[in-house]
Amino acid sequence: MCGIVGYLGNKPAEYVIIQSLKKLEYRGYDSAGIALLSNGEIIVEKEQGKIVNLENKVFEKGKKYYATVGIGHTRWATHGEPSKVNAHPHSDCNSNIAVVHNGIIENYMELKEYLEKRNHVFTSKTDTEVIPHLIEEKLKYTTDLKVALFEAVKELKGAFALAIIVQGYNNLLIGVRKGSPLIFGIGEGEYFLASDIPAFLEYTNKAIILEDNDIIFIEREKYKIYNNFEEIERNIIEINWSPSQAEKSGYKHFMIKEIMEQPEAISKTFLDKVNFTNNEIIFYEIDNSLVNLIKETNDIAITACGTSWHASLIGRYLMEEIAGVVPEVDYASELRYRKRPITDKTILIAVSQSGETADTLETIRKFKQNGAKIISICNVLGSSIPRESDYTIYTHAGPEISVASTKAFTSQIIIFYLLAIYIGKLKGELSSKEINTFINNLKDLTKKIKRTLLLDEYIKSIAPDFSKFHNFLYLGRGINFPVALEGALKLKEISYIHAEGYPGGEMKHGPLALIDENMPVVVVLPQNSLYEKMIGNLHEVKSRKGITIVLTDENNGDNLENLADVIIRVPTIDKYLQPLLYIIPLQLLSYYIADYKGCDIDQPRNLAKSVTVE
Ligand code: M6R
Repeated sequence: MCGIVGYLGNKPAEYVIIQSLKKLEYRGYDSAGIALLSNGEIIVEKEQGKIVNLENKVFEKGKKYYATVGIGHTRWATHGEPSKVNAHPHSDCNSNIAVVHNGIIENYMELKEYLEKRNHVFTSKTDTEVIPHLIEEKLKYTTDLKVALFEAVKELKGAFALAIIVQGYNNLLIGVRKGSPLIFGIGEGEYFLASDIPAFLEYTNKAIILEDNDIIFIEREKYKIYNNFEEIERNIIEINWSPSQAEKSGYKHFMIKEIMEQPEAISKTFLDKVNFTNNEIIFYEIDNSLVNLIKETNDIAITACGTSWHASLIGRYLMEEIAGVVPEVDYASELRYRKRPITDKTILIAVSQSGETADTLETIRKFKQNGAKIISICNVLGSSIPRESDYTIYTHAGPEISVASTKAFTSQIIIFYLLAIYIGKLKGELSSKEINTFINNLKDLTKKIKRTLLLDEYIKSIAPDFSKFHNFLYLGRGINFPVALEGALKLKEISYIHAEGYPGGEMKHGPLALIDENMPVVVVLPQNSLYEKMIGNLHEVKSRKGITIVLTDENNGDNLENLADVIIRVPTIDKYLQPLLYIIPLQLLSYYIADYKGCDIDQPRNLAKSVTVE
């Protein structure tokens, strides 16, 4: 969590840094701060709360900084409560060094004790503050800043990305990456450091994705990168995201924009992988050695957290039914501590929008150490999970800024669908006719998603009536059970209404006791082999006075009037693609309930977009 930025260029640094921080606010928003090199001195401004508080402070009438170099931070507290004093940047005793940090310094207690014995005085409760003091300590023994920095970094344990400025070095910005993301943006006469690309996309699309153990010294017109303290070269890449993808573009929130972007996001996900002319799935990311392993093994595990875990559950259904393999799916926070056998015949599929989720990353490391091959499904280019995986399949959904994940979910499902067909073919489970049908079913998918999005106005109109309830149940079965889980997660995380997802068949084993006239039950009822079973579950709810919102197919001719208080009809689609359409009304319902309640939709309380701590 936490977003860091650094700037060295020709524009007022405070302006660029605040704008860039706003693009990273999804990473944390309990306090924010900025440090500027102004007339040879470091000036620090910090505020508790959102970036707008910092912005108001920085741009108070009459304030002038004349700075073109600086760093900034938006925080999601780990060590030390959210407060102004714990907000970054942090400084040394003499306020000569300012540091912003994303990650955790694991040995900070030890370092703090050591530094306190050497008369360093700490002002905050953060782990970060040891860093400027440690550099300051090293500078007692050398005048060479580079040497002092290298020595300090060698002593830091944990995962971190840092941006640093130093008084007396008016044309220098330093970045350090070990375990947390740090991207170097290269503009015209200006350079950027940031935790994520959208921070500087408005200024440049040229970047270097720094690697672990990289330290970068950025000066005017030049920069040097060291890896493990040896100078190296890194390739510059061009980012093909447009700046508008990281803007709200007229929408009230990123969440609704991202919901509406799903037709494009999904087609970008599958277009380069599906050859509609000869009905073929191509994974250019997969090489011969992985093809051989896939043919040989049935030991496949899928891991993820949150929404990505829900997509993984759908992935399991697809793999089971289409490819004939039965992967296990587990939360990364569980799998990393389990004593599951892992061999060189194990494949781990790790799913993550951000590519930074700590539990997923640690599970990858554990499986890798034990010989497994890692395939990651990821959205953010150059993030940690792809870097540590053997193979990465990018979803290409474009930047997802809202904390509540929407378009990443549907894009991940599409990757699973394609993988299931691909693996099914490799394992000889599918006939050409079946493959043709699966691929043909994709042809009108985006059109159907667009049609489903037309439910927007209707769902907005029913949301106020449902915003008064305190509890919701979501029911689904089979491949749509994870849709119920995801619908419930969306509602709770952005509207703070308690919601649970259940398989319909489980109701009589406990949850039925909750049903009364104050319990809205959202029932995912597509026409598939479990339709009749689900109708039975709907009866169970309705006969106990539950309020029902029923989602079903457009061409379902059954009379559901007695069973449904609200009916939402989505286009009819093949059973394996149903989750892609059925989740959309549920995303919209959560969004409009939360909006009606006036919740902070894109930045819900206590959450952050990338969970880089355990
Ligand atoms: O970036 P990841 O996909 O690894 O993130 C996993 C979860 O933290 C994430 O899906 C979270 O549950 C979202 N806030 C859900 O909307």
